[in-house]
Amino acid sequence: MHFSVTEIVHDLVRLHLKPGDTAFDGTAGNGHDTLFLAQCVGSTGRVYAWDIQPLAIERTAMLVATHGISWVELTLGNHAELDRLFGATFQAATFNLGYLPAGDRTVTTTTANSIRAIRAAAERLVAGGILTVLAYTAHVGGHDEANAVGELLQSLEPTEFEFHEELFASGRTAPPRLFVLRKRQVT
Ligand SMILES: C[S@@+](CC[C@H](N)C(=O)[O-])C[C@H]1O[C@@H](n2cnc3c(N)ncnc32)[C@H](O)[C@@H]1O
Repeated sequence: MHFSVTEIVHDLVRLHLKPGDTAFDGTAGNGHDTLFLAQCVGSTGRVYAWDIQPLAIERTAMLVATHGISWVELTLGNHAELDRLFGATFQAATFNLGYLPAGDRTVTTTTANSIRAIRAAAERLVAGGILTVLAYTAHVGGHDEANAVGELLQSLEPTEFEFHEELFASGRTAPPRLFVLRKRQVT
């Protein structure tokens, strides 16, 4: 059976998005997640996508443009500085930790930046919103980074957030770790 971790993430996130919503992609990379989010929220919605590398922003811009999408706002910058994005709240936020595929493998996400960014994105989730972190661990510090993300999400107020980790045991030596955070509905 074909096993796609990305499809599993998209299936989860899709359930939380509808046309007109706002989503955040903290690691635009080659643009696949940005494109997916943009297709979910449609032309009345908005996607903010950030990456620290010009090449990633270029590739993402190209990918969304070839799909006729104009409702993605791309930012070249460090996701740890998410505070620069004034006022926006999100129905969904996604992060893929690691390096840019087919890019410079020495430029990777880091524990310090990821923790700041993920905490800031969680604070901007609306009730019922979802945040996913797909943590690849092959880069230097990747295991520690994934552990730190898990600890952060686990530490959030449980009356406000529910958190779980999906386990992938697909025979790979270092399968990615998927962390899922949902902001509870106010009852
Ligand atoms: C695994 S890739 C993302 C893949 C992407 N989601 C896709 O669909 O192709 C990780 C990305 O995180 C970016 N990145 C690393 N540190 C970052 C930071 N501090 N802020 C924003 N992006 C960062 C890298 O440049 C790289 O493009």
